Amino acid sequence: MEDLRAYEPGSSSGFATTSERYSNQMVARKEKRLPTVEETNVVGMKNDVEAVKGKLLEGAMERVVVAIWGMGGLGKTTLAKKVYNDRDIQNHFCYRAWVYVSQEYNIRELLLGIANCVTTLTDEQKRKNENELGEEVYKCLQGKRNLIVLDDIWNTDVWRGLSSYFPAESNKSRVLITTRREDIVVDAHSDCYKLQLLGEKESWELFLNKVGTRAVLTWPGLEEFKKEIVAKCKGLPLTIVVLGGLLSLKDLTRDSWLKVLKSMDWHLSQGPDSCLGILALSYNDLPSYLKPCFLYCGVFPEDSEIKATKLIRLWVAEGFVQKRGKETLEDVAEDYLYELIQRSMIQVADTRDDGRVKSCRIHDLLRDLAISEAKEEKLFEVAENIDVEVLPTSVRRLISSNISQTNSPHLKNSNIRSLILNRSIDEGDEIGRLPPSIGRFVNLQTLDLGYNVIQIPHTIWKLQQMRHLNCYNCRISSRQSMRERSEGLSTSTTILFPGLECLYKLHLVGTIRKLPVETTLYPPNLMQLKLLYTKMEEDPMPILGRLPNLRILTLLQDPYVGTEMNCNHEGFLRLEFLQMQELWSLEDLSVEEGAMPNLKTLKIKCCDKMRKFPDGLLQLKKLQRLNLYEVSQELMSEVLETQGEDWNRIRHIITSQVPPPIRGY
Ligand SMILES: Nc1ncnc2c1ncn2[C@@H]1O[C@H](COP(=O)(O)OP(=O)(O)O)[C@@H](O)[C@H]1O
Ligand SMILES: [Mg+2]
Repeated sequence: MEDLRAYEPGSSSGFATTSERYSNQMVARKEKRLPTVEETNVVGMKNDVEAVKGKLLEGAMERVVVAIWGMGGLGKTTLAKKVYNDRDIQNHFCYRAWVYVSQEYNIRELLLGIANCVTTLTDEQKRKNENELGEEVYKCLQGKRNLIVLDDIWNTDVWRGLSSYFPAESNKSRVLITTRREDIVVDAHSDCYKLQLLGEKESWELFLNKVGTRAVLTWPGLEEFKKEIVAKCKGLPLTIVVLGGLLSLKDLTRDSWLKVLKSMDWHLSQGPDSCLGILALSYNDLPSYLKPCFLYCGVFPEDSEIKATKLIRLWVAEGFVQKRGKETLEDVAEDYLYELIQRSMIQVADTRDDGRVKSCRIHDLLRDLAISEAKEEKLFEVAENIDVEVLPTSVRRLISSNISQTNSPHLKNSNIRSLILNRSIDEGDEIGRLPPSIGRFVNLQTLDLGYNVIQIPHTIWKLQQMRHLNCYNCRISSRQSMRERSEGLSTSTTILFPGLECLYKLHLVGTIRKLPVETTLYPPNLMQLKLLYTKMEEDPMPILGRLPNLRILTLLQDPYVGTEMNCNHEGFLRLEFLQMQELWSLEDLSVEEGAMPNLKTLKIKCCDKMRKFPDGLLQLKKLQRLNLYEVSQELMSEVLETQGEDWNRIRHIITSQVPPPIRGY
């Protein structure tokens, strides 16, 4: 289903600076180890933490803005995080909220981020505009001692835009900002803490921590070595961890380390900024399979949290991941991720309970490097808006941060394979429109428009190569619905995907109400379909049952508002996986004989009005897994207590969870 083509040799030639032999050895040698979460390995900072804590805990009753100021890569975010998670701080403040600001900030999104830290917003609240959301935040924070962290501010307008939404009460509330710009420190009238570079001792300690070995301590001439490394990194933690990460993966011999340091001299001679030189060196040292993966991280907005599963899926889809024995490509990709983390090229943002990485983040200096290298390698280009009149035709992937200015009819680069909108446009902005000439991108395989409200023209049907289409809030016009809309008759959205033969997987999020009835209007090879929040009013099963290649169907979060569903005789002939979740009104699901003969997994979750287990499911010979979670007591009792051979078989494969005694609390 996925495109497993290897990374194209043409464009990968630039990635082969390190020998393949070395990289293959690396993979063989490296056992699957989980990267350590950085916060636990912080060196020094004790005094810094105490000083900032002091500013937050003591002093004036009025709201005070405290700033951590210093250059990029110095550890401002690390320090702020340590303070934020400190027990005394947690005990002192009633509410704490943290948002990453970055250069591409949007006040409404920041408010949303803050609100999400202190309350649970309803869907309706989430749709509010900046002012209304600001009022919600204000109401929430009012009367409570709170700490708001605004990490990495670049623009004085951020604090000016936000400050009125935070109550200025006399209750010792605090705002903690981090920034590398002095004018912001001054403009916010903040109490400033200037973070210093690490001293020689701490630099060396951090370096050894990252390298993960103390064996070097026995090397002859160690002092010289130590001096050189400390001098090159100039006390900047980011440089130290990146260099340490690089050396931690080299053979533990003096010679191999000296070689790296020598090559560093060349990089340092390229520009005045040693930090950037070391970062460039570590990029160049990446094995060829990791280079495109690292560069691809530049696609994501600055300071954004990147879900590991999403990143891995994208790498695989882009063909960056090489087959390795019997391992799945996703497993290999996860190793790639860990290697980039080990090298400190990517940071861990969050981990799962089992210690695996849940999400990650790229430091903005490394992101800048990724974007400029990606342009050089022609891997992707980041454009202000997607009027690509001026782009060379060699560009294959285009990342844009602005789609509201795309009315230009001039999209003409037919070589583009991926078009990704990497940030959302303001609420209240006009609906963005993709120009009809999008139909000329005959090689387009990935169109990712995020959560933006965008009108897609009907010429999209011409894109026969399309594989990944993410358009959560888009209106896709058919000729007919365009006409209807122009007459002001239709407010509904018609979704049609005929002729997209390569589209196998489709996720649709948002109100649809009614699916098109004609199966010829769906992608003919559709295998996976996920419908979320669609609030369909008519039973979708008779229609979906007729999609000839559908194998995985997921209906989630209020997909259907009716009370009955019927899976017809001979419907869903190839379906193997069915998940039905949060169909709050569903009372009766019936499965006729002969339907879903190939179903292997069925998950029914949070459908608490369903009182009866569908008889038709008892006949399914291939059913291997049945999950029932938060279903009604009646349904559970029926399944657990009814006598008979078929019921015994069902009980054998069931995993369930008895509903909690009181719902809604
Ligand atoms: N004192 C420290 N000990 C260990 N690692 C550090 C320290 N300070 C910074 N780092 C590491 O350096 C990198 C950059 O730090 P970060 O806090 O993101 O910098 P900034 O926010 O100032 O740009 C991160 O990978 C972080 O883990
Ligand atoms: Mg930072």
